[in-house]
Amino acid sequence: MPRTPQIVRTVPALRRAVDHLRSRKATVALVPTMGALHDGHVALVRLAKRRADKVVVSIFVNPTQFAPTEDFGAYPRTWKEDVAKLAAEKTDLIWHPDAKAMYPDGFSTRVVPEGPATVGLEDRFRPHFFGGVATVVAKLFTQVRPDVAIFGEKDFQQLRVVTRMADDLDLGVRVVGSKTVRERDGLAMSSRNVYLSAEERRIAPELHRAMKESARLLRGGTDIETAMAAGSEIIAAAGFALDYFELRHSETLAPVTSIKDGPLRIVVAARLGKTRLIDNIGV
Ligand code: PAF
Repeated sequence: MPRTPQIVRTVPALRRAVDHLRSRKATVALVPTMGALHDGHVALVRLAKRRADKVVVSIFVNPTQFAPTEDFGAYPRTWKEDVAKLAAEKTDLIWHPDAKAMYPDGFSTRVVPEGPATVGLEDRFRPHFFGGVATVVAKLFTQVRPDVAIFGEKDFQQLRVVTRMADDLDLGVRVVGSKTVRERDGLAMSSRNVYLSAEERRIAPELHRAMKESARLLRGGTDIETAMAAGSEIIAAAGFALDYFELRHSETLAPVTSIKDGPLRIVVAARLGKTRLIDNIGV
């Protein structure tokens, strides 16, 4: 049986454990998560192992990135299974603070990201989100002080926001994106996929098919408006309520008017019943 990784729940215990990991000049990678781990997270841990000598995984369902109307209470929590998965991957340390350890009484400082956090994608529909993410990720970075941190490309705007923040604040962490892991039918793995009914789960891969169709048309020389309208139609026909389906610059996330403005990314967010799915692909 794989050995259970060390689990720490307070900042002083974390500091001691990370100092110990770092003895003999070992490098440290951090994989920030909210738990409910799936194969996408396992891929992040495996990439972390390739990029550093020791791997720390944080599991913290961060209340500040959820609006009161969102699913903080219902967010899947699968602690035992998460620990077993991380043990199987030989994770060195699990950082599992509770809300009091992360946000002690009197906590009153927030990171307010701009740039990629204000380009009118997720921020338009979840205005609270990137402030909550940037604040908790800044704290995770200063708590763990990793050399490198691994984030999934599935949350593409989040990846850009934390990369920018780490640079802007000289946090000394190299942020690395990890390719989206998909189910066999193309659905991007996400902890929220458990919310889908059987019928919604059958429909959900249409999001990926729509992006691929628009990308195919764009690569073949179809103009942006026509190519993106084709993808939007697939999404609407499948029964999604669309938040956005857009072609953006991969680095700045700015809107583009020509395929030559690349590198390009198609980004999408759409709701299926009560579940909101986001995804993206490169063009
Ligand atoms: O992507 C996530 O799981 C979360 O947004 C993160 C980065 C762990 C911050 O809470």
